[in-house]
Amino acid sequence: MRYLITGGAGFIGGHLAEALLREGHSVVIVDDLSTGSENNIAHLLGIPGFEFIEADIISMERLDNLVAGVDMVFHLAAAVGVELVVRDPARTIKTNVHGTERVLSAAIKAGGVKTLVASTSEVYGKSAKQSFSESDDLLIGPSTRSRWSYACSKLLDEFYAMACMKASGLPVIVSRFFNTVGPRQTGMYGMVLPRFVSKALAGEPLLVYGDGEQSRCFCHVLDTVDALLKLAECPDAVGRVLNIGTTRETTINGLAELVIERTGSASGITRIPYDEAYEAGFEDMRRRVPNISAISELTGWRPQRSLEDIVDDVANSLRGAAANNRC
Ligand SMILES: NC(=O)c1ccc[n+]([C@@H]2O[C@H](COP(=O)([O-])OP(=O)(O)OC[C@H]3O[C@@H](n4cnc5c(N)ncnc54)[C@H](O)[C@@H]3O)[C@@H](O)[C@H]2O)c1
Repeated sequence: MRYLITGGAGFIGGHLAEALLREGHSVVIVDDLSTGSENNIAHLLGIPGFEFIEADIISMERLDNLVAGVDMVFHLAAAVGVELVVRDPARTIKTNVHGTERVLSAAIKAGGVKTLVASTSEVYGKSAKQSFSESDDLLIGPSTRSRWSYACSKLLDEFYAMACMKASGLPVIVSRFFNTVGPRQTGMYGMVLPRFVSKALAGEPLLVYGDGEQSRCFCHVLDTVDALLKLAECPDAVGRVLNIGTTRETTINGLAELVIERTGSASGITRIPYDEAYEAGFEDMRRRVPNISAISELTGWRPQRSLEDIVDDVANSLRGAAANNRC
């Protein structure tokens, strides 16, 4: 099979490309390297069946031809990361809405190429439910708070994907990723775990935003990739919206303490108010736990790796990167 991964030089896309190539498929990646990096795919360049095209999916002229030449599209390209979204909500909306519209139109023009659209747990917004299921009502904050532009743009992508299926018979799958973490994720755009591990390895204070009692569920990127591979092969996943995440809940304070313990660091923890970390009036969710029974029943998938595995993998990968930089 031949796959197109938009945003394939990003954190999740690079791992997905690696897994598909390992299974003997061919992979073409389109990425404008805005938040992604060639470092994420450097080890894949030169492998037969792998191609990287540096381009913006919104303006790329060859996109229609490219999509026509593949069996399936994983559409991961997006403006990602809370800091980036708060800093530049206009770019977030343009990339996420126009980019997805272009990819889905190309898939329709090509006669109906199956497309998986990456969405996010952010769409559950401020809901106070114990755990989030795909059919839940969604409670997004006001449009005067820029962080919600990410959730709204991704939600529009979901509606558009479903509309394309209804109008043109396009086979689509929507995956709602909860916090996905692991080696090669950058902390530059606000991702908490790589920021914490870098600080711990440097012996500097870990910066916790807010009171740190907000909790998240952190899923290893290799578990996320396993879920994507299973969904790609599952005919009944077509037309579905599916949560992908782990159900183990950890507070950000707990994560900071675990990182310090696993890395053997002497770092302390410094708390910074949200207003200072992001913008005045920043709104956050206290909890965000997925219900993953839908994907488990459909494909048998459940995450396999623990949070301790994740922290160790991220620390080892950052130590390796630092050693390479010194050589
Ligand atoms: N990592 C997570 O925890 C998480 C959680 C929820 C949803 N997601 C979704 O998963 C997908 C992948 O996220 P990620 O964590 O790998 O982030 P990432 O930033 O590493 O990957 C996104 C990639 O898209 C590329 N890109 C952005 N705009 C583009 C454009 N116009 N044309 C071509 N390429 C473009 C970036 O350069 C980057 O490589 C995204 O759609 C994101 O919204 C991720």
